[in-house]
Amino acid sequence: MKIAIIGGGPAGLYSAILLKKQRPEAEITVYERNRSDDTFGFGVVFSDATLDNFEKYDSPSYRRITQEFAYWDDIAVHFRGTVHRVGGNGFCGCSRRRLLLILQERARELGVTLIFEADVDDEARFADADLVVLADGVNSRFRDRYVEHFQPEVDLRSNMFAWMGSTRPLDAFTFIFQETEWGPFIAHAYQYEAGRSTWIFETDPETFQRAGLAGLSEKQSADRMAAIFGWFLEGHPLLINRSMWRNFPMIRSKRWVKDNRVLLGDAKATAHFSIGSGTKLAMEDAIALSDAMLRTPTIEAALKQYEDGRREEVEKTQHAADVSLVWFEHVDRFWDFDPVQFAFGVMTRAKAITYDNLTLRAPDFVSEVDKAFAKQVRAQGLDVDIEKPVAPMFQPLRLREMTLANRAVVSPMCMYSAKEGVPGDFHLVHYGSRAIGGAGLIFTEMTCVGRDARITPGCAGLWNDEQEAAWRRIVDFVHANSATRICLQLGHAGRKGATKLMWDGMDRPLEQGGWDVLSASPIPYYPDSQVPREMDRAAMEAVKAAFVQAAQRGEACGFDMLELHCAHGYLLASFISPLTNTRTDAYGGSLENRLRFPLEIFEALRAVWPAHKPMSVRISATDWADGGIVGDDAVLIARAFAEAGVDLVDVSTGQTVRDSRPVYGRMFQTPFSEQVRNEARVATMCVGNITTSDQVNTILAAGRADLVALGRPHLIDPSFTMKAAAWYRAEDIFCPPPYLPGKEQIFRNTVRDRQDFDDLKIKAKPKTRAELKAEATKPLAAE
Ligand SMILES: Cc1cc2nc3c(=O)[nH]c(=O)nc-3n(C[C@H](O)[C@H](O)[C@H](O)COP(=O)(O)OP(=O)(O)OC[C@H]3O[C@@H](n4cnc5c(N)ncnc54)[C@H](O)[C@@H]3O)c2cc1C
Ligand SMILES: Cc1cc2nc3c(=O)[nH]c(=O)nc-3n(C[C@H](O)[C@H](O)[C@H](O)COP(=O)(O)O)c2cc1C
Repeated sequence: MKIAIIGGGPAGLYSAILLKKQRPEAEITVYERNRSDDTFGFGVVFSDATLDNFEKYDSPSYRRITQEFAYWDDIAVHFRGTVHRVGGNGFCGCSRRRLLLILQERARELGVTLIFEADVDDEARFADADLVVLADGVNSRFRDRYVEHFQPEVDLRSNMFAWMGSTRPLDAFTFIFQETEWGPFIAHAYQYEAGRSTWIFETDPETFQRAGLAGLSEKQSADRMAAIFGWFLEGHPLLINRSMWRNFPMIRSKRWVKDNRVLLGDAKATAHFSIGSGTKLAMEDAIALSDAMLRTPTIEAALKQYEDGRREEVEKTQHAADVSLVWFEHVDRFWDFDPVQFAFGVMTRAKAITYDNLTLRAPDFVSEVDKAFAKQVRAQGLDVDIEKPVAPMFQPLRLREMTLANRAVVSPMCMYSAKEGVPGDFHLVHYGSRAIGGAGLIFTEMTCVGRDARITPGCAGLWNDEQEAAWRRIVDFVHANSATRICLQLGHAGRKGATKLMWDGMDRPLEQGGWDVLSASPIPYYPDSQVPREMDRAAMEAVKAAFVQAAQRGEACGFDMLELHCAHGYLLASFISPLTNTRTDAYGGSLENRLRFPLEIFEALRAVWPAHKPMSVRISATDWADGGIVGDDAVLIARAFAEAGVDLVDVSTGQTVRDSRPVYGRMFQTPFSEQVRNEARVATMCVGNITTSDQVNTILAAGRADLVALGRPHLIDPSFTMKAAAWYRAEDIFCPPPYLPGKEQIFRNTVRDRQDFDDLKIKAKPKTRAELKAEATKPLAAE
């Protein structure tokens, strides 16, 4: 077998090693355009888990790598004169140059041919090769040559960065967030061998320009960085080696394989440096390729298996990298945060590290985070314990004169079970049991302001006395039997009205018994949906009156709070999104115009809703569709409602148009809440695929939302909050007297359950290299 590998970086060399070990008879050649000891960059990082993998696949190179690495356990965050150190991270750094020399040496030992100063231009010369590995890096010539086949997507990120080195010793992975007269600069720094550290500097494009970095040489810009970070460098120089300022390219390729050619490493996909995974991904690609070659009979099958099997893992890492890089791009959102909360945000930015996880390995840090959170609550005028505070989820929140006992919320969810808009026994049990379950706040389902305002025939409403009495019964039950507050969500279905019950076909038009629907513009949701009537002024007045009457009925029912539903493509949302509003009057065109009618309704409601009771608005912070609402619009929308007196923005997304492309994932809408909260400076509630109380605490403690709503998790678990209270020992949670024995039992048992859980987590941790360093330096046995 003949294998040609283009590119002698980590991906090319490691794949040569693993393939040669597997097939000693194969003729494997690596072609590298540089000289053998030319290398750009300084250090690379590997986690303990990645090193476990290297050990398994090639012990000799693993041992040589680990003989020279620098190991650290802590992450240190420097911000506004403070430093927070968090342990238990287990990373090692090694020199990129040493890594490549080790891999070259190992490849030679095994009989791989390495040809340097061989710039491959035409891979036709490998026509006789059985396999051609394209490991030619981020600017891959061969990926670009077959661009139509591989379909790479290159997303050039906005921040500028430069890779430098220093002799400054570091005993932790170090983030420095530095205020300057031009704007914020960030250093990501770590040691990779004795007396050598990598320094990646990052800043936004405006600060980059203001700092005059654009025209500077490498040396001059290093001097500028040395001046900014001089206080920390303590006289150590900054070193340069191709340290030009660049924008990071996030690369994703639709295909990785063409005939017998396969893309590996940066050539196929990149991961932002802030999660330190570029070299790891490249070497793990090599592992995946060699595994596939071992398991399958033909090259074709192996390449298919490599591509199919590896993609999910790479995309997961890229997703984490995306989330992380976006955090750094928007660091100004957190610039006025309390430093400990800021540090918590840095630690948890990519979702893998959470509140519980940090509690296990850095309990003192989390205790400081909890205290800072409790102090903010105290500053709101609430008398909470700041010495021994409860977890953020169980901190109260005040909105106007309504105080919530905790920050877990039952998200509004249509039950499609009302008869002529009247909520029945199902609703009483549904809302009642979730209140007893301990949530701080419950939202009603979208409650429609008129018969023709309903989404489906099963939707609840509040336009007549019978409905008012039925809702009052529910509100009274909640107030009498729980400490929960209940918020009425009022809405109008607009063009999504007269559709089937969720389980019969969501948003599909009713075949019989429908009614006329209204919208901002006459655009049907599905091509076969009813064409809505474009609202004229009279229709607007009628809808406004219906909203006002429903709000007055809501007050009569005793609801604690009122939410105006302006999301998910319903009537008011259809005015806000340019995808559903093509009007040419004062209610269409600019965002200001598109917001006019929803704001008119909001103001009319605010005028009749008691001043001591809060109001929220639900928005779709993005339409997930070209030409639609994006996060920056959501900030403007939130500001406009805040000026009109909104107390909380309920940040949801999408459902505006049927051909949207949402990017789902854990907590996938939280970034929008974070943006709205910290740019518009208004309290927010986030929601969307948040399933654990650990996530709730992580979001709150990082200042990404003020309340966290859970929809589907509450459908199957009314006692979500009570269980979480037991986990976090929030003893004060209200429990109705008849249920107290259950509360006592779960609080008692959870102490042991949590200990078991923590023990399991500790056992599952990969071994740390600190312990293994001695082992790795033992003399090598013949391999
Ligand atoms: C300037 C620079 C500095 C970096 N510094 C660091 C750092 O300090 N720490 C870190 O963790 N990561 C660093 N990275 C990123 C990291 O190197 C990559 O994520 C990782 O090396 C990917 O491995 P790879 O094998 O896919 O690609 P590369 O390491 O880029 O290897 C590709 C190789 O292919 C060769 N090549 C390209 N085209 C041809 C051709 N036509 N013919 C022959 N050979 C060819 C290149 O010379 C190169 O050696 C740096 C990247 C760059 C560009
Ligand atoms: C069955 C069901 C009905 C819903 N009805 C409403 C509704 O009436 N009003 C509303 O604003 N959102 C509604 N939603 C959206 C939820 O409030 C929530 O935003 C969404 O389910 C995402 O949160 P989750 O991942 O925690 O479920 C509904 C969701 C579900 C699952």
